[in-house]
Amino acid sequence: MPTGSILVAYTTHSGSTEEVAKAVGEELSKGGLMVQVQRLEEVTSVGSYDAVIVGAPMIIGWHRAARKFLRRHREALSRVPVAYFFMAMSLTETGETAVDTVPILVDPYLPQPPGCSGRLSRRERYATAGNYLRPVLKAAPRVKPVSAAFFGGNLDLMRLKLLPRLFVMLVIQATPGDLRNWPFIRDWATNVSTELLKSVKA
Ligand SMILES: Cc1cc2nc3c(=O)[nH]c(=O)nc-3n(C[C@H](O)[C@H](O)[C@H](O)COP(=O)(O)O)c2cc1C
Repeated sequence: MPTGSILVAYTTHSGSTEEVAKAVGEELSKGGLMVQVQRLEEVTSVGSYDAVIVGAPMIIGWHRAARKFLRRHREALSRVPVAYFFMAMSLTETGETAVDTVPILVDPYLPQPPGCSGRLSRRERYATAGNYLRPVLKAAPRVKPVSAAFFGGNLDLMRLKLLPRLFVMLVIQATPGDLRNWPFIRDWATNVSTELLKSVKA
């Protein structure tokens, strides 16, 4: 049975990422790991963990708190294996399997093919995995995630204030609903724990 302690640090705007972080944590625990699932705003130190998973929703870029977390803990995070997960309602199909050498895994139900082959619209360019991930990598350049996963999120327009609601409707053009694909999320958690622990031992 593998040994190791993993922190699943997450942030959320409306709650759905918290449920995903808990599901990821559950899968890791099934593999015999010691798992702490904690809101990243409450994490004071990551130094005592063998590996760290950071999860957050796209909220006009990856949630600000997550990028701040990466900057604040960049030294410690550069010394342990890490993985990221993103919650999103809109992703343009590009077929990318890596962004700047970071392997990416995309929920197959999430991406939408571009309207016009060969040329992406401004909104489609905004919603590519590369455009979502690159600023995150830039926030902590020495932190090299073993995996970055893109999961379908959950969007309830009635829970949003007017401005965020308008942004999501007009800019993201996301259709409300729950796109979370639990088997995909749980599979990623199982596979990524193997990747993370391999890197611990290496
Ligand atoms: C203000 C706002 C901005 C958002 N921006 C994006 C975005 O840029 N791309 C995207 O795919 N989804 C975007 N979303 C959708 C969220 O990422 C999605 O609903 C996610 O599941 C929310 O997670 P949470 O429930 O943990 O807050 C946005 C949602 C809100 C409210």
